[in-house]
Amino acid sequence: MHRTHLDDFEPVPSLTIALPDEAATLEFGKNFAACLRAGLIVFLYGNLGAGKTTLTRGILHGLGYTHSVKSPTYNLVEIYNFSQLYLYHFDFYRFSDFLEWEEAGFREYFNLESICLVEWPENAGNFLPTADLQIFLDILETGRNLEVRAGTETGKRCLETLKNRKTS
Ligand SMILES: Nc1ncnc2c1ncn2[C@@H]1O[C@H](COP(=O)(O)OP(=O)(O)OP(=O)(O)O)[C@@H](O)[C@H]1O
Ligand SMILES: [Mg+2]
Repeated sequence: MHRTHLDDFEPVPSLTIALPDEAATLEFGKNFAACLRAGLIVFLYGNLGAGKTTLTRGILHGLGYTHSVKSPTYNLVEIYNFSQLYLYHFDFYRFSDFLEWEEAGFREYFNLESICLVEWPENAGNFLPTADLQIFLDILETGRNLEVRAGTETGKRCLETLKNRKTS
């Protein structure tokens, strides 16, 4: 796993998709799940109610998780274990300080055996490693607009896989 940042001069590889309803968000999540691999860090941006948790639910369903997916707003993280793989779903909406970060041991969660999905990454700013992928959800009059941007070489490869799945 190489956390190689993309060249500053390279245009950011991205993908934009319209999600007309909740089912489309879940479906995108399922598709996206097929492109994930251990070590990937994904930041989820968007206002309250934009669909970050819904998208995470779709991803978890895509990975075969059939139970309910709760929002980790109060305890900051929900942990999912698939035989070899850990998926950490963070929500830093209520995150306040460095001590909380250290005491919770979050640093160790970002490792090569795990996938990390992070809602409200802007609230944990400097503590977080670089995201391989950033997903932006915008609330439209009906539905949502979703944009995926790659931040590392690993993210770029994942995005390419996703694009190929979409067109095939
Ligand atoms: N593509 C879509 N079009 C319309 N509604 C959607 C779409 N995707 C999800 N929703 C709905 O929008 C709401 C999104 O809630 P969700 O909890 O996923 O948002 P969130 O971004 O995680 O918010 P928060 O920042 O509060 O955690 C849900 O009611 C869901 O049904
Ligand atoms: Mg949420």
